[in-house]
Amino acid sequence: MAGSPRTTPADQAREAAVEAALGKLDLDAKARLLAGQDSWTLPALPEIGLGSLVMSDGPIGVRGVHWTAEDPSVALPSPTALAATWDPALARRAGTLLAQEARRKGVHVLLAPTVNLHRSPLGGRHFEAYSEDPYLTGRIGGGYVQGVQSGGVATTVKHFVANDAETDRFTVDNVVGARALRELYLAPFEAIVENAHPWGIMTAYNSVNGTTMTEHDHLVNEVLRGEWGFDGINVSDWTAARSTTGALGGGLDIAMPGPRTVYGEALARAVRDGRAEEAKVDDAVRNVLRLAARVGVLDGADPVVADLPAPVDGTALAREIARRSFVLVRNEGALPLRPGTVALIGAAARDARVLGGGSATVFPDHVVSPLDGLTAALPEGSVRYAVGADPNTELAVAAKGFTLRAICRDADGEITGTAFAPDGQIHWMGTDLPEGVTPDRLSTVELTGTFTPRDTGTHTFGLKGVGAFTLTVDGTTYYDDVQRPAKDGDPFGAFFGAPVPRAGAELTAGEPVEVSLTHVIDLPEGVPLKAVTFALAHQEPRRDPDELIAEAAQAARAADTAVVVVATTERVESEGFDRADLRLPGRQDDLVRAVAAANPHTVVVVNAGSPVELPWRDQVAAVLLTWFPGQEGGAALADVLTGAHEPGGRLPTTWGPLADAPVTQVAPVDGELPYNEGVFIGYRAWEKEGRTPTYPFGHGLGYTQWAYESLEIDGTTVRVRVRNTGERPGREVVQLYVAPRGPGADSGAERPARWLAGFAGVEAGPGESAEAVVELPRRAFEIWDEASGAWSFVKGSYEIQAGRSIADRRITLTTTV
Ligand code: BGC
Repeated sequence: MAGSPRTTPADQAREAAVEAALGKLDLDAKARLLAGQDSWTLPALPEIGLGSLVMSDGPIGVRGVHWTAEDPSVALPSPTALAATWDPALARRAGTLLAQEARRKGVHVLLAPTVNLHRSPLGGRHFEAYSEDPYLTGRIGGGYVQGVQSGGVATTVKHFVANDAETDRFTVDNVVGARALRELYLAPFEAIVENAHPWGIMTAYNSVNGTTMTEHDHLVNEVLRGEWGFDGINVSDWTAARSTTGALGGGLDIAMPGPRTVYGEALARAVRDGRAEEAKVDDAVRNVLRLAARVGVLDGADPVVADLPAPVDGTALAREIARRSFVLVRNEGALPLRPGTVALIGAAARDARVLGGGSATVFPDHVVSPLDGLTAALPEGSVRYAVGADPNTELAVAAKGFTLRAICRDADGEITGTAFAPDGQIHWMGTDLPEGVTPDRLSTVELTGTFTPRDTGTHTFGLKGVGAFTLTVDGTTYYDDVQRPAKDGDPFGAFFGAPVPRAGAELTAGEPVEVSLTHVIDLPEGVPLKAVTFALAHQEPRRDPDELIAEAAQAARAADTAVVVVATTERVESEGFDRADLRLPGRQDDLVRAVAAANPHTVVVVNAGSPVELPWRDQVAAVLLTWFPGQEGGAALADVLTGAHEPGGRLPTTWGPLADAPVTQVAPVDGELPYNEGVFIGYRAWEKEGRTPTYPFGHGLGYTQWAYESLEIDGTTVRVRVRNTGERPGREVVQLYVAPRGPGADSGAERPARWLAGFAGVEAGPGESAEAVVELPRRAFEIWDEASGAWSFVKGSYEIQAGRSIADRRITLTTTV
């Protein structure tokens, strides 16, 4: 079977080592191996030569087991950006870099990629998934998995399945028809299992059709393992496993995080009581041991990868992916930039938002902001900066201007340990405490140090976290009380939630003051995760928004070109909640209008991980979407704005206003979220509704033009010849859509007007032509037949449409299959 790679002699040798190791384990050791021993690791079992398997979040970097800027990681652009490159080979190179990062940090399993779909634009975690289209998602995810695993590091493709929104994510039951499940939501997982053989999968928090995913016998045992032949591990999302016997029956191998889980002792007890079968425990242990063998932590087994790929320069790759991902959706001659001065405007131009929030967070050792990037690339003195509007309507974790350390004390007030705190966030999970500090002797943690303001005025200080806190700024205690947990019940709410303002202090620019936030540690029994999680938060003095906009318009008027960077914030796009609307936060829309009125050469750079509304787009000269562009975002932006490189991205998802978006429901009703739209999400739905989005799926301009000259079909091979008719070299993403034309091809089932069936990137110099060769997959002509519960090849006539986007189809040929 395609997904079952246990065929080579090396695979067989590993299987033998797995069986030998399994035979030496008693029930207690086996049960222990299936449960996290802490937040990120499984126990070592030295008696069988098994090392501890270490996991870390991805997808844009490898954070490792410490949640701190002291353990920095290369931060690549967001997954939406990677998908916008439409380049699985580049995704593969990203994966190779991540494997290198994982090895550097002693990580064996990367908790990535996220291949859920952009079902509704309101999904809060879209920046972390690839696309609304399952085929594009599968291709990018497949490249990523191949790359990571080529470095000998496992992936866990997540979140299996239908974790397409965040509202009530622990309890929501997504009610999805079999056809939509197969053709959309399972499809990327299936393609990746088939083409990239991932060594792991992560089961989601949510239920699908009445059963929670960590217990889903049908989808895990029958479909994933049975039909597809997946032979990797199935790890729960963090705290997702709820029942010992349910999870074992549902094919869950590893319950994370530890130390308290539904496996371990509880599992051994269930077997002894006759509630669970030991043979099933053995199956799970086999999967874990196979993983250990593959990544090289089981003695007597050769790891899959003996020769590591050549080292990758992370900084250079981050910059390359970023510029290749930027999507130029509009350009009325404003880009590349004309010579002359630039007014660079926007809070995110200076304090760049380079990555999305939540578990996808990593800490890069440096960030190139748009201001840094453009200042370095343009002649000295030609960039003038203005804030214009600050989208951060809330406090953010204390960072710029703060010098902090954490002091741990015991119940007698004795210092038991200290740690450098690179910012105001403390997130110590399990036993990951500063040196010398043990959980039993940890009574308080004080974040203390100095703050040197950038501006004079009322600075707001606050905190994030649950429990008792004392906040003192410049000698005044502003808060000494207990913060209660949020009502939504998300166990990570204290971490992802909004900071609460607790102090307003009048401070003077450049004059340092003492700050201190003390948290009393009171770890309640029975919580699933033991962690010390809180943050000191801060907000700069708020200036009059009209004044800021006027100042920016003035700067724009005085410059040859205005570049406005608009952005979402961590409170708009992150994990644990969905979006309420698609508007840019704060006064950013007003800012763009004012700047556009002041300068006809206004370029808007959109720094957002997923779609936002662009109501002013026809009033500006160019719009460039840069996603969350990773640590080198500003350098890549300079590459593209100056014309050193063309922007290479194409939209992986339709951009349009919320009022027109066909699928918007993300909140369950009575615990259920019905996927009533069936197979019609994304462009499939926009076309069905006959609505025109702002920018269609696949759209993106470069700095040259392309003519589509010919389309030939030979069996399932399609050849498209395109010519670069512009004046500079470029790269074109040739997209192939399949449209059923009948007779026969309409099959009785309602089908989308067309769907993406293939694509290929080609490069050509001015005047040159290039040929894109695309192999049409059989699946492009199949539908899931709900009556028979099988794929059905729909014979008939189809138009093969080649073009620059789903709306810009240049050349078409009818074929019969
Ligand atoms: C997220 C996962 C992540 C895990 C560990 C969960 O809340 O849903 O994507 O891998 O935490 O951080």
